[in-house]
Amino acid sequence: MIDAVTLKNFKGFKSAEIPLAPLTVLTGLNSSGKSTVLQSLGVLRQSIDAGFLSSGSWLLNGPFVELGAGSDVLHEDSDSEEISIGFIQDGARFSWTVAYAQQADVLEPNASFKASESTLTPFSDRFQFLRADRVNPQTISAKSRHAVSQNKSLGAKGEFAAHFLAIFRDQPVPVSIRYPEASETTPGLLSQVNAWMQEFSPGVRLDVRDVVGTDYVRLSFTYGSGVNESNAYRSTNVGFGLAYSLPIVISCLATPVGGLILIENPEAHLHPRGQMAMGRLVALAASAGIQVIVETHSDHFLNGVRLAVKRSELDYTNAKIHFFSRNPALRQSTFVSPSVQPDGRLSFWPEGFFDQWDNALMDLCS
Ligand SMILES: Nc1ncnc2c1ncn2[C@@H]1O[C@H](COP(=O)(O)OP(=O)(O)OP(=O)(O)O)[C@@H](O)[C@H]1O
Ligand SMILES: [Mg+2]
Repeated sequence: MIDAVTLKNFKGFKSAEIPLAPLTVLTGLNSSGKSTVLQSLGVLRQSIDAGFLSSGSWLLNGPFVELGAGSDVLHEDSDSEEISIGFIQDGARFSWTVAYAQQADVLEPNASFKASESTLTPFSDRFQFLRADRVNPQTISAKSRHAVSQNKSLGAKGEFAAHFLAIFRDQPVPVSIRYPEASETTPGLLSQVNAWMQEFSPGVRLDVRDVVGTDYVRLSFTYGSGVNESNAYRSTNVGFGLAYSLPIVISCLATPVGGLILIENPEAHLHPRGQMAMGRLVALAASAGIQVIVETHSDHFLNGVRLAVKRSELDYTNAKIHFFSRNPALRQSTFVSPSVQPDGRLSFWPEGFFDQWDNALMDLCS
């Protein structure tokens, strides 16, 4: 597990150490620095995958993040031309420092760096980065033996989720992440995906089949059973929420213990009930030993996490919340960190932190 991310002159962070827990929830207004934290790990990951990081270089534009050139990444008010990304794992500090170069999208090392090791969590084969812009519902989904069978990747946009489900449909899900309330599920991935997806759309059952003679698979969605069973609807005819949430559900259920999942906006296109269930699922995954860092705008998601803490499904010490804001005068991102109490309450409630309900009610009642 990584205990903190350390950033220097990286986009909106001049110098920052962001503490992490098994589950870290990044919140805050738009453009306040949440994705930047995830992107820092994405840059390191795509750099190591491309074979650059062993020499200390960064690949700024790749499958996980597209950051532009050095001039886009260097903090606007930096007093040096060094950009650093690092993290703390098991008490040891690892960091990579590169030199700013205006037009370059590969930045070269500027200082001594610690060689990357596959034992470091962000570089392990148990890594998923699921971006905010995921693939829309599709009639058929591409297969990738390289991404799925070899790298166990869902794709940064979740584009390989259907193929992943086809290949690993029977992979057993650890007991502690299985859907707690269902009596008729089996331990296999597809059965558990269906159980959790029924929180989003009651009665739904997914299935995935090869499109014979092609490099595609087809996801289908059926409702009900027996005489009430519906046709198998295509993905494009069952709304956005199911397709958008599928890669996140799979990542929580299928990432091995010790892995790291970075998720942007798991709540996208889900009804509030589903957003809360997503918070619970992510909390259970973190409790089972998968480190999760989530960016969210959803108080329902947050409440799902808080209730999981209250129900002792996640120990309160294993959750951290950061509330980001951008200081316009300093042109920097900063954050405060209300801690989660054993009963799910927060130690304090910063102004602007999911207080829209209260503000609206005050206005409505005045
Ligand atoms: N080179 C830079 N120097 C200083 N600040 C920068 C630089 N590049 C980007 N920023 C700042 O970073 C912020 C964007 O942060 P980020 O992309 O992490 O937003 P976010 O909190 O994830 O937003 P959203 O909720 O919309 O996804 C902006 O405020 C922008 O001004
Ligand atoms: Mg963001």
